[in-house]
Amino acid sequence: MTDRPEARSLPAHASGTFAIGGELSVHRLGFGAMRLPGVRGEPRPSAAHEILREAVRLGVDLIDTAQAYGRSEDLIAEALHPYPEGLVIATKGGLGRGGRPDGRPERLRADCEGSLRRLRLDTIDLWQLHRIDPEIPLEEQFGVVRELRDEGKIRFVGVSEVSVDELRRARQMVDIVTVQNRFNLAERAAEDVLGECEAGGLGFVPWAPIAMGDLLGTSSTLAAVAAGLEATEAQVALAWLLHRSPAVLLIPGTGSPEHLRENVSAALIELVENDVLALEDATQGPS
Ligand SMILES: NC(=O)c1ccc[n+]([C@@H]2O[C@H](COP(=O)([O-])OP(=O)(O)OC[C@H]3O[C@@H](n4cnc5c(N)ncnc54)[C@H](OP(=O)(O)O)[C@@H]3O)[C@@H](O)[C@H]2O)c1
Repeated sequence: MTDRPEARSLPAHASGTFAIGGELSVHRLGFGAMRLPGVRGEPRPSAAHEILREAVRLGVDLIDTAQAYGRSEDLIAEALHPYPEGLVIATKGGLGRGGRPDGRPERLRADCEGSLRRLRLDTIDLWQLHRIDPEIPLEEQFGVVRELRDEGKIRFVGVSEVSVDELRRARQMVDIVTVQNRFNLAERAAEDVLGECEAGGLGFVPWAPIAMGDLLGTSSTLAAVAAGLEATEAQVALAWLLHRSPAVLLIPGTGSPEHLRENVSAALIELVENDVLALEDATQGPS
């Protein structure tokens, strides 16, 4: 892995880089913006803006959001537009009411065009299908995604919550460059999908990288490894993901400036093999 030499002092840069689609180089420790609209309970746009700006100051250049995350896309544009060079905003579409998949082609087009408007972009660097809709033929869903890419509205395409089989079928219809599945130290059911990403040169973006906080305080081994490194449990959980595969791109989410700094600093942690084995033994394996 290489790094941009001009800014090695920024913590996120210690995570190294990954080239999305072989072209868009980002540092592997990014930020997930799902929780920003509800930052600290009451929506406080100024707090969300400050977190986004701080993330960029810390060297984050990959921000994940979605059409379905309330005002998240608007907050990103308000805080960061005109965007700093090299910032990659990854968004998603195709999630309807109640979090149900909605893969109707007209819906996917409307979601993508809405994201372009809200993010004030001409092209979305990485647009992810939030969920495959089991009610709509795959060819219809990926057909419109292909059209949007050919129209220049999307540069690269990703998918979310897919099986290996779904990923393979999707890749027959359109070039897929990233997969976003739930995956963390305690929830490793997507190991096979991660392996498929590694083999194909795709980025793997684990969502809920600290199990939405549920991972913390649950394992004496995690606590002991963290204490030994003078780190927090969240940092060790994130460092384990970075260590797990060079294909991993992290997007931990937080509404707290302290947690943001803590999470980004996880890029500076180097786990030794004994700790890795102990952590993997102590927490849940593939299920
Ligand atoms: N593709 C999908 O279907 C999908 C689904 C869900 C999420 N996502 C993406 O994945 C991103 C991350 O997922 P996530 O936010 O659900 O889960 P997460 O990153 O595992 O956990 C976030 C939760 O942990 C807490 N937290 C964060 N850092 C912490 C720290 N250092 N110490 C203690 N607690 C900490 C946060 O609360 P505080 O605010 O108090 O820090 C928040 O409640 C989202 O922002 C979104 O972009 C994708």
